[in-house]
Amino acid sequence: MSKYYTFKIKRYLPDENPSTRWDEFRVKLNSMERVLDGLVKIKETMDGTLTFRKSCAHGVCGSCAMKINGQNRLACQTLVKDLPETIEIEPLPALPVIKDLVVDMTMFFHKNDKVLPYLINDEPPPERERIQSPEDQHKILESITCIMCGSCTTSCPVFWADKEYLGPSALLKAYRFLFDTRDRATEQRLEAITGEHGVWRCHSIFNCVEVCPKEIDITKHILKLKRLAVKKGFTGGEK
Ligand code: SF4
Ligand code: FES
Repeated sequence: MSKYYTFKIKRYLPDENPSTRWDEFRVKLNSMERVLDGLVKIKETMDGTLTFRKSCAHGVCGSCAMKINGQNRLACQTLVKDLPETIEIEPLPALPVIKDLVVDMTMFFHKNDKVLPYLINDEPPPERERIQSPEDQHKILESITCIMCGSCTTSCPVFWADKEYLGPSALLKAYRFLFDTRDRATEQRLEAITGEHGVWRCHSIFNCVEVCPKEIDITKHILKLKRLAVKKGFTGGEK
């Protein structure tokens, strides 16, 4: 069954006006359509200047993360039937806005770079790939489903207060390699995450867990990082 939804969208078009405004659009959608479908209809039929990111449209690329009715979500994963008739949409919080719903993710990806997001192992490579047992793979299984959408880090009050804080997403990435049994850079990695703006700043507020579209228990992973850091003598930034 189709019905009309009001899309209330926070607009920022710096070429036209340096301040933000709210625009409203009435869109007819059926109950199984997603917020992304509504945005595409608006752009194609009502206002071609409306700007947002999307790519896969199936919860894989992470590019359509935005704030929908007060919570960070993927527009391609959010069915309109689960929302009230007025749908309020804003860009992800705490990052600079480039235009409308598009934020500058440079800061977010820079944090990811800081935790060395690649396998480090200087032992001679085997003839084929470095294999891992199913049990060992299980240890990192949840963490590798992250699609880097940025919903977690931008919903974290610690990040709002301290832009240098690595944040849940980068810490989860650190976990992914620290708990990978093929990796050999434990000390280097712990060094990278136990400084002033690292893992000890997490206060287990759980906003990240609430918003993660992949339902990753990020706080549980951060807790395991803290335990490992203590075990290896990396406490409070001092070894
Ligand atoms: S952990 Fe979840 S919310 Fe955070 S970036 Fe990955 S998929 Fe997005
Ligand atoms: S468009 Fe790729 S996750 Fe939504």
